[in-house]
Order: sequence, then C-alpha cells, then structure tokens
Amino acid sequence: MTKRIDHFEFVPPMSDIAREAGALLMPYFEQRIKFEYKGDVDLVTEADRRSEALILERIRTRWPGHDVIGEEGGRIESGSEYRWYVDPLDGTTNFAHGFPVFCVSLAIEHRGGRLAAVVYDPTRDELFVAEKQKGAYLNGEPIHVSAVNSLAESLLATGFPSHKRHKNPNIYFYHQITLRTHGVRRAGSAALDLCCVACGRFDGFWEFNLNPWDTAAGVLIIEEAGGQVTVFDGSPFDVRSQETLATNGIIHRQLLAEFDQIFRGRGLEPLPSPVEYAKPGGKL
Ligand code: IPD
Ligand code: CA
Ligand code: CA
Repeated sequence: MTKRIDHFEFVPPMSDIAREAGALLMPYFEQRIKFEYKGDVDLVTEADRRSEALILERIRTRWPGHDVIGEEGGRIESGSEYRWYVDPLDGTTNFAHGFPVFCVSLAIEHRGGRLAAVVYDPTRDELFVAEKQKGAYLNGEPIHVSAVNSLAESLLATGFPSHKRHKNPNIYFYHQITLRTHGVRRAGSAALDLCCVACGRFDGFWEFNLNPWDTAAGVLIIEEAGGQVTVFDGSPFDVRSQETLATNGIIHRQLLAEFDQIFRGRGLEPLPSPVEYAKPGGKL
C-alpha cells in the first residue's frame, strides 16, 4: 500500500491519474491487444490512445489552463507557464508482445523548469514520484541512486530508437560499453530505465533520439534521487536534446569519457565477424 507523502503538491493527483491509466492498460495487456504501425517499427495500440485520452481528460478537468504534449497527438498549446509531457504507455512494443515491462509517464514543467513527475508500472504496482527539491520516492519510500564508483563494476541500460534504426550508431556503443562494464540491459521502456537508475537498480543509462514524453518524468526522478543527467558531451540536459546520458553522478565522468573515445573512434574493440565464427575452427 503506497503511503501518502504530504509535502507534495502535484504528486498526489498525478499519482491518481497514473494509477487510473495503469488500471486501464492492464486488461488490454492481458488479452494481447493487436497493434498498428505508426512508422518503421513504431507500434501503437488502442490502449495507448485510450490511456492518453483518459489522462488528457483528467488534466483538463483539474488544470484547465495548462498546456499538454501527449505522444499520441494530444496537444493543448495556449502559451501557459505550465506544460505537461504525457507518455500514456511507454514500452508499447513490450506491451504488444506480452513482455511485462511498460509504464505510464507524466511530467509537468513550470516556465521550462522540471516541477513534478510520476512513473507508474502497473505490472509490479510500482509508483516512482518526485517533485522539485522535495526528493524522489518509490511507493512512498525515499529512493537514492547507487553508490557504485567504477564504470567497470556498473550495470547500465540503453535502448534503440524505433525510428531510422539503420542510421543509428548505438550498436557500437552497446558493444564497447558491454565490454567495459558488468553489462548493458535493453528492457524497452526508457521511462522505467531512468527510474531504475534513480533507485539504484542500474548505475547508468543512455539513449539516442528520445522524445520529451519519454524522458521528462524520469530525468526529474533521477535528479531528485541524487543522480545526474546530461547530453553526450556533458552539457546540460534539455527535454528537446534527443541525447540522454544519466548516471548515479559518481560514474558520470567515466561514462562521458567512454563516449568521447567512441565518438572519436579510439580504442574500439572490433565487432567479431560472424563469417569468421562460422568457418571451421572459428569457434572459441
Ligand atoms: C519507446 C521506449 C523504448 C525506447 C524507444 C521509445 P514507446 O517508447 O521508451 O525503450 O527505446 O526509443 O520510443 O514508443 O514505447 O512509448
Ligand atoms: Ca515512450
Ligand atoms: Ca508511448
């Protein structure tokens, strides 16, 4: 049972909305809903659309003057000082295949600054929340990033964009960083990956080409849990950056240094050739 955290202003009503959307998603998940293509391998389902419609209706009713940007096309743009970023179902590919890693992600900005965030995983009943300068919590308990201080002993996560995959170099980063750490996971929900950094399950995460609705909530939750988020050269993160590099803060410089080396093509371990492997005697 989640405890109420009484010093929050936005988190309690946002949590109710995220839980309601999560409850809407679960029956669709259990019945293995059919999907459509938005493009390339970008999937969408009726569950994404119904979850977004529900969330937008709740936001409009409670905060009628606020602007909203939802992934599935929901837009209210009136020039308000408040702006919401709504991912009604982060992890649609997992959802459509019956793999239980997905969530609802809601964030609100005030004058462009991150204000409050909730990420709800209905499969585990895990609610991650944060509000600016008020800390980050998982199911009512304070959370903190890990204390791991060496990249070599870190567990990291990444994701691969569903758009223009053939133009994306992330497989090289995946390869190099896998060889230099305890491993790199690719679970398929960027918002949950970020929350896993916030609560110390992962020590870091990176991804190319994410959108504001993927990152806005998770980034605030990491910052409030004591972690750090920048773009790939270490410059400040912005929701429109499309480059996300998040860590516990302690290994941040080490991971940035790896990125710098990989972008320069230095010290790259060559990808082993499958043709060589398949030759007689090619197996180690
Ligand atoms: C996707 C997930 C995935 C990430 C993709 C996103 P969606 O969001 O966060 O982990 O790798 O880049 O597009 O489409 O399931 O909301
Ligand atoms: Ca998403
Ligand atoms: Ca989505």
